[in-house]
Amino acid sequence: MSIGLRIAIGAVVLVILAAIAWTLFRPGMPPQTTATATATNATTQFLNRGEYLARAGDCVACHTAPEGREFAGGRAMPTPFGNLYVPNITPDDDTGIGKWSADDFYRMMHTGISRDGSLMYPAMPFASYTKITREDSDAIYAYLMSVPPVQQKNRAHALRFPFNKRDLLLGWRALYFEEGEDVPDPKQSAQWNRGAYLVQGLGHCSMCHTAINRLGGSSESDAFEGGMIPNQNWYAPSLTSNREAGLGDWSIKDITDLLQVGISNRGTVYGPMAEVVYNSLQYVSDEDVEAMAVYLKTLPKRDSEPPPTSQARLVSPNVMETGRKVYATQCAMCHGAEGRGQPPQFPPLAGNQSITMASPVNSIRMVLNGGYPPGTRKNPRPHGMPPFAHILTDAEVAAVVTYIRVAWENNGTPVTPTQANELRTLLPE
Ligand code: HEC
Ligand code: HEC
Ligand code: HEC
Repeated sequence: MSIGLRIAIGAVVLVILAAIAWTLFRPGMPPQTTATATATNATTQFLNRGEYLARAGDCVACHTAPEGREFAGGRAMPTPFGNLYVPNITPDDDTGIGKWSADDFYRMMHTGISRDGSLMYPAMPFASYTKITREDSDAIYAYLMSVPPVQQKNRAHALRFPFNKRDLLLGWRALYFEEGEDVPDPKQSAQWNRGAYLVQGLGHCSMCHTAINRLGGSSESDAFEGGMIPNQNWYAPSLTSNREAGLGDWSIKDITDLLQVGISNRGTVYGPMAEVVYNSLQYVSDEDVEAMAVYLKTLPKRDSEPPPTSQARLVSPNVMETGRKVYATQCAMCHGAEGRGQPPQFPPLAGNQSITMASPVNSIRMVLNGGYPPGTRKNPRPHGMPPFAHILTDAEVAAVVTYIRVAWENNGTPVTPTQANELRTLLPE
């Protein structure tokens, strides 16, 4: 293998990991409306459209630091190779993108090549944004040019050699990046096509919901198949498996509720997905979120693993008894004796695919740390779940999570106290 090739492959590994390894974003204040167009109606409409699209693309989640000014950057995205610092995209001439033209902006969104010609790290989801139309890019550009400029110098990325060499991104691009605007599928309805455009493009859903292959990259053929988010210890389930987060047998109403409201009769969102709903999806219009639901329902089903055998699902009677007791005393008041919950506020655990999927990480985390669905326009005061880290031992956590994975005809597999302990030590209290 030539040295060049070896470096290129090394770079690919790193960079891709970098791309997907980000911190758990903490939601800051809700994005403020900042469009101040006073000119013609058309301009106002165009800016409003840009603001709407910027929300659908969730630019604010990465480009705003905790407690920082909107879009002024500075947020650290930790990776196994050091930190990336997200840049300032306010229209400040010296420190932001004030000098960028609409052409520069479109080229970056579409090709991942920055104004100065350098290759961008795929932590900026241009691999998804490449799908957006020129018109939508121009609207987002116009909107960003209308927000108050913030003078705040970008902090240099702190990536280790050789990952700090942008030329090495050529290797990643060759393997994983396909440039190109969305091409509507004439065999599908306009609504389906709109949903596909939003999910694959601005929504950049595949950035999390895609299996990470051995090189740390995600490839088109694995799109939406789910995976662990590195550095975050959350599992983003597969959107193409009805045993994970596949939505094939969900009603449109339950899907739109989940995405836009944050709670539904089938389940609620939490962790990184709650932040996506909080910062972005709650602002997506009823029409667009319905289009997304129509598209998501049709994603081809590709279960990567066969369902667990009855052998794999065997649980010792002791563990089952402990789990049953813990459940009855700590959980049943909200999730119901039979696991049916009190939807949509308290999610059902029986028949809930996100409880029984192969990775138990999310359920263990919920039991240890508790959580709240996001406060959204349609559900401003969500009910939460208390943390149990201080109340339950590792063995009890494992037993109760095992219990909810196998009780009520749920077809999950048992989890071990070691798995509970690993997450306990990894997670902040
Ligand atoms: C998942 C996090 C993430 C999201 C979401 C995101 N960005 Fe970025 N963005 C980044 C990172 C990281 C960089 C720096 C990449 C680099 O240095 O190669 C960046 C760079 C940029 C740049 C280049 C700025 C410069 O000075 O070079 C622009 C412009 C930009 N993003 C605009 C946007 C817009 C518009 C959106 C929403 C449609 C968006 N970003 C969404 C992470 C993100
Ligand atoms: C920042 C990473 C990230 C992004 C971006 C993201 N998701 Fe998620 N998603 C997750 C995680 C982690 C979970 C598991 C937690 C949960 O179920 O709420 C999840 C869960 C889900 C679920 C299952 C919820 C349930 O209760 O069964 C659906 C459906 C979903 N996401 C759809 C989407 C769609 C559609 C998009 C794009 C608009 C998207 N996600 C973008 C991380 C992400
Ligand atoms: C005070 C009410 C309450 C109690 C008590 C409670 N929960 Fe919850 N639980 C909730 C709420 C509300 C959510 C949704 C949280 C979110 O979306 O962030 C939830 C979510 C969950 C989830 C994630 C559901 C999904 O769709 O993946 C699991 C797993 C869970 N609870 C298990 C338990 C277990 C096990 C116990 C007992 C040890 C318990 N809960 C006790 C209210 C409660």
